[in-house]
Amino acid sequence: MKQRVVSGMRPTGKLHVGHYHGVLENWVKMQDSFDCFFFVADWHSLTTEYADTSGIAQSIREMVLDWVAFGLDPAKCVIFRQSLVPHHSELNLILSMVTPVSWLERCPTYKEMQDNLETKDLSTFGFLGYPVLMAADIILYKATRVPVGQDQLPHLEITREIARRFNHLYGEVFPEPEALLTETPKLPGLDGRKMSKSYNNSIYLSDTAEETRKKVMSMMTDPARIRRNDPGEPDVCVAFNLHRIYVPQEKLDMIIPACRNATIGCVECKKILADCMIERLAPFRARREELVANPGFVDQLLQEGSQRASLISDAVMTEVRTALKF
Ligand code: TRP
Ligand code: SF4
Repeated sequence: MKQRVVSGMRPTGKLHVGHYHGVLENWVKMQDSFDCFFFVADWHSLTTEYADTSGIAQSIREMVLDWVAFGLDPAKCVIFRQSLVPHHSELNLILSMVTPVSWLERCPTYKEMQDNLETKDLSTFGFLGYPVLMAADIILYKATRVPVGQDQLPHLEITREIARRFNHLYGEVFPEPEALLTETPKLPGLDGRKMSKSYNNSIYLSDTAEETRKKVMSMMTDPARIRRNDPGEPDVCVAFNLHRIYVPQEKLDMIIPACRNATIGCVECKKILADCMIERLAPFRARREELVANPGFVDQLLQEGSQRASLISDAVMTEVRTALKF
């Protein structure tokens, strides 16, 4: 029996290459060895976007197109939308009854996110309950493994505590899921800060070859290389983080000493990067173009996936109601 994996992503719009190498590529690899459920966490978006929901539908579409174009295969995994499986909300309600508020107030991401997003009023019940909804997402499928980044570990710890508490109160229903920590390569944006939509420094999976080239050529390098014959250091070069992912080793072996003794210029060096990136991303981008041409594709995929997810979640909710003597 394959272990069951559940993971979700909040729909923030089109994905950038940092998302791909940090999360999506890992999901794609897992499809073969685990029983995978991947979903659009649209209710989680609502915890921060409740005041303006106008962008969510388009963000879902862009994100799911990226997922499938870059390798998630509905024949190998279940791809669905959280809000199309109402059991998430039902289990969230039940779990909220057994979760002490202090666990949520103590969660380090709670204060952090409120401080980071200070333009939004996040003093809501729903935002405090973010980890409870996440726990429901996971244990609703009796997942045993949850691929997440470092930032989500506190949420997973709360999930395990909630599952334990439910089992203690009502009998053994849920396994305690374990985090599968995804090791994320450090991928800075064009300006050297973290790649992020809000910094406008991202290379998107859906960018064209020309956009990619333009962005790569504008990328920061080693700030010490002011003139062409100043020696540089790949280890402190912003662009070189992408070289490590996209440029084959034999070319890196040529570039590294050439940068250090200033026999290669940054323009030439970034041209090599742009060429490699464009070539590697081309087949995925071509597939994305095909998917975009079919306007009903995403809705149909999410409808079908959500029906498949419901078959599992429905059976688990029957167990939950029985355990509650409801
Ligand atoms: N909170 C996660 C994030 O922001 C998204 C998420 C929601 C999730 N529910 C989940 C991830 C369940 C894993 C499992 O990245
Ligand atoms: Fe970076 Fe290449 Fe310029 Fe060296 S030559 S600083 S590795 S872009």
